Amino acid sequence: MDHVIDSHILFLSFNLGVGKSCLLLRFSDDSFTPSFITTIGIDFKIRTIELDGKRIKLQIWDTAGQERFRTITTAYYRGAMGILLVYDVTDERSFNNIHNWIRNVEQHANEGVDKILIGNKCDIDERKVITTDQGKALANEYGLSFLETSAKSNINVEEAFYKLARHIKKRLIDSAEEPSRAGNYPLGDNININSQDSSKPTSNCCQ
Ligand code: GTP
Repeated sequence: MDHVIDSHILFLSFNLGVGKSCLLLRFSDDSFTPSFITTIGIDFKIRTIELDGKRIKLQIWDTAGQERFRTITTAYYRGAMGILLVYDVTDERSFNNIHNWIRNVEQHANEGVDKILIGNKCDIDERKVITTDQGKALANEYGLSFLETSAKSNINVEEAFYKLARHIKKRLIDSAEEPSRAGNYPLGDNININSQDSSKPTSNCCQ
């Protein structure tokens, strides 16, 4: 029998157009589209990966960056085990907004939820306004993992999701070993037996 750890991951950004949907499309279908179709409300995709011999089903929720959908997207914070905070390296406002976003997550998400900071569109050199060091410094300030990614050039997309999945898996297994740290995610609720999802192979990234 094949055990699958079932995890919920949330994509967040206070700004529209930072590339959340494209990152998700790159990870789930290995494709990219240059056209911008803004997310309405919330959408999700599933991909099952393998980590250290365990199958992890990632259910990834893609939230709308637009303010008018904030009430809908906030409702999904509570169920998230992992959160990707995304800014656009060519858009200073999206970077500055990360502080607000973190406050929001602290207010609405589960304590201990795994988070990772993502600076997307790192393929664009000429319009880059947020340096890698600035991204790292912000991540350090909040004790987050950090990666610069490009959905377009397929840089670090696999790494970002695998990194977050690894954190989640570690926490779930630690929780099982130490019941007092289990929080709102009892391990029993998160294991599916004989999932039908197919895993894709891990690919090495460019950085
Ligand atoms: P909302 O759904 O409105 O919150 O936007 P989003 O964050 O999902 O952005 P989306 O993925 O729709 O991308 C917005 C625009 O940025 C599109 O035109 C994409 O083609 C472009 N884009 C996304 N990722 C990248 C990237 O890594 N590099 C470059 N150069 N463009 C990107």
